[in-house]
Amino acid sequence: MRYKSLEKLSEDVIKCKKCELYKSRNKSVPGRGKKDNKIIFVGEAPGAEEDEKGIPFCGRGGKLLRNSIREVGIEDTEVYITNLVKCRPPKNRRPTEEEIESCNKYLQEEIRLIKPKITVLLGKTAIKKQHEDVLLKEQHGKIINKKESRYLLTYHPAAILRNQTKISTWIDDLKLIKKYYKKK
Ligand code: URA
Ligand code: SF4
Repeated sequence: MRYKSLEKLSEDVIKCKKCELYKSRNKSVPGRGKKDNKIIFVGEAPGAEEDEKGIPFCGRGGKLLRNSIREVGIEDTEVYITNLVKCRPPKNRRPTEEEIESCNKYLQEEIRLIKPKITVLLGKTAIKKQHEDVLLKEQHGKIINKKESRYLLTYHPAAILRNQTKISTWIDDLKLIKKYYKKK
């Protein structure tokens, strides 16, 4: 289905039962932002806090992400934040191929409606679906140009929380956004 607006898409995400994850979720977590936010961030799947509030990246990883975005000179109001899978997998396990496939349509539609200047794929799971399996140690900071969007490959904030020595590398990756996105 082709959506006319992000609002309509969010409404469908909220009531979606297209995969098994709807059974264990508390709230689905639609992407957050506006059509004129030309930078998209894509995480893996909601965690416990996101599941409770229905807001993407509102927990610890989210705080790091938002602070880092600001550190490279981009405002919260310029970004659209979403996830590959919109409902929390039980015990934060990786979403299955099947769940990813069921949910991916929403992300494709978010990208189609927004027409971002750049889409930042956070972590291996989000990267694998839009591109291929990568070794982030070697491929972080890489830019991939595709028909629907330009993608920046980088680490997931949870990986940075686990290994804080990576933070400056991560910030350097995020700085690349500014090469492709100029504020109007
Ligand atoms: N991790 C994600 O990948 N997404 C969220 O929304 C929160 C944590
Ligand atoms: Fe629907 Fe995606 Fe939630 Fe599965 S994870 S129920 S496909 S919104």
